[in-house]
Amino acid sequence: MNILPKPFRIEVSEGSFAFRADGKVATDLPVIASLFGGADAGSAVKFVKGETEWDYVLRITSKGVTATARDDEGLFHAAVTLLQLTGGSLEADLPACTVYDKPRFGYRAGMIDVCRHFYGVETVKKLIDTMALFKFNHLHFHVSDDQGFRLRIDALPKLHQIGSERKGTCGDGKPHGGYYTKAQIKEIVDYAAERYIEIVPEIDLPGHTRAIVAAYPELSCSGKPTEVASWFGIHSKILCTGKEGVYEALDKIFAEMAQMFPCKLFHLGGDEVAKLEWAKCPDCAAVYRREGLKNLEELQGYFTNRVINMLKKYDKTPVLWNEALNSGMLDKSAAVQYWTTDRPSAERVTKAIAEDGRKVIMSRCNPYYLDYPCGMHSLKAMYKLEPADELGEGSEKGILGVECPLWTEHIAQEKELFEHFYPRALAVAETGWSPKGVKDYADFEERLKGVLFLLDRRGVPYVPVAECNPGKIKSALSAAAFGMKMQRGCDPTSARNWRSM
Ligand code: ACM
Ligand code: ZN
Repeated sequence: MNILPKPFRIEVSEGSFAFRADGKVATDLPVIASLFGGADAGSAVKFVKGETEWDYVLRITSKGVTATARDDEGLFHAAVTLLQLTGGSLEADLPACTVYDKPRFGYRAGMIDVCRHFYGVETVKKLIDTMALFKFNHLHFHVSDDQGFRLRIDALPKLHQIGSERKGTCGDGKPHGGYYTKAQIKEIVDYAAERYIEIVPEIDLPGHTRAIVAAYPELSCSGKPTEVASWFGIHSKILCTGKEGVYEALDKIFAEMAQMFPCKLFHLGGDEVAKLEWAKCPDCAAVYRREGLKNLEELQGYFTNRVINMLKKYDKTPVLWNEALNSGMLDKSAAVQYWTTDRPSAERVTKAIAEDGRKVIMSRCNPYYLDYPCGMHSLKAMYKLEPADELGEGSEKGILGVECPLWTEHIAQEKELFEHFYPRALAVAETGWSPKGVKDYADFEERLKGVLFLLDRRGVPYVPVAECNPGKIKSALSAAAFGMKMQRGCDPTSARNWRSM
């Protein structure tokens, strides 16, 4: 049966039910009614709340369909399963069966970087709408980076007035910008909540902050004016660790963001911190001495823990990219998002799970980064990744879930955005939801082909499945083209211009 992600268990019985996809269903939830032909209490297709140990149970008999779940979210999951079973046909005869289903992991996410290229509310909503059809439950929203700050913070208006605009992109001379108003963020958050998706905002700190220091240069070590970055790569104009104004400004940002984003998870970044300016800064040196720190990693550790403490009053759980473990002093409350591919980082993550009970989101760059082409990160490779395998025995207990990030340095159009996301993200959706040990790529591919009508119906572009696993020659060519594109996108004058891996 074409259900993706694959459910926990399906028991097939005799007979079938003639479901008409344009027919109405009995539900109190407008979002479920909107997936079908509307709501009608008399329909033979019923969504009802009831006690069950499962996320949902979907029972199809020759007389009708009953979906049962403890809560609305479970009913929504049952509805998308049912929708997939119709195969998009208005005349579907559904095989009698009972689906017993529940997720493997509590965190199943995609990420969109709206800094390198800005995407408006309608695009973000389209992404959320389609993700929900595959039981994703979080969207990581990367809203602050060197190339743009994308929120309106009333207490710090230059963040959107100056920080959201750049003069060009990689020398093209064309201004690029945009930010979300508070009303727009509410629209996105509410739209996602209706589909049981939470928005995890990320303010990447203390690196990747050139847009913030372009708006408020006094927050950098040198205090000198700078511009929002128009090239990619890693930038060294970042927040100072020693100026009190930095913590005051972040407190203001957090206060407004905590209002905007109800999600308990709050991403603080922590990746790729070029510490060149810190090494020369008297204010950073004063912190270094006062705190008795031994190296610049510990200075990042000091900064991060201080910021985590500030966030505590908003009752948020911090999430940080795995470099935040490098200091050896990361606050125990923080979850870690594992993205790098190097052995020492993997070992640190394994240790953090074993010794600190740390929770980890698996986002290993290779193959989970969706900005890379299929020739580098194929559908098959994404499907095959088992979240805890690389981290070794006993690490599975620390896995909060999975996330496929989509960075947008070289993705400027909505069409490309969706083609990078789909269908590969659906391999990650399946890993996040389906029980361990059931992976079978051929079966996955068949089911995938059977559910792509959901994207077709919404006019969402995706790469044809036949092109998602290119052979060796095509892969080598696409890797070379991608490498050149990345290289060309980085500031030719910067010392370290390649995004580290
Ligand atoms: C990252 O890709 N720098 C988290
Ligand atoms: Zn400094």
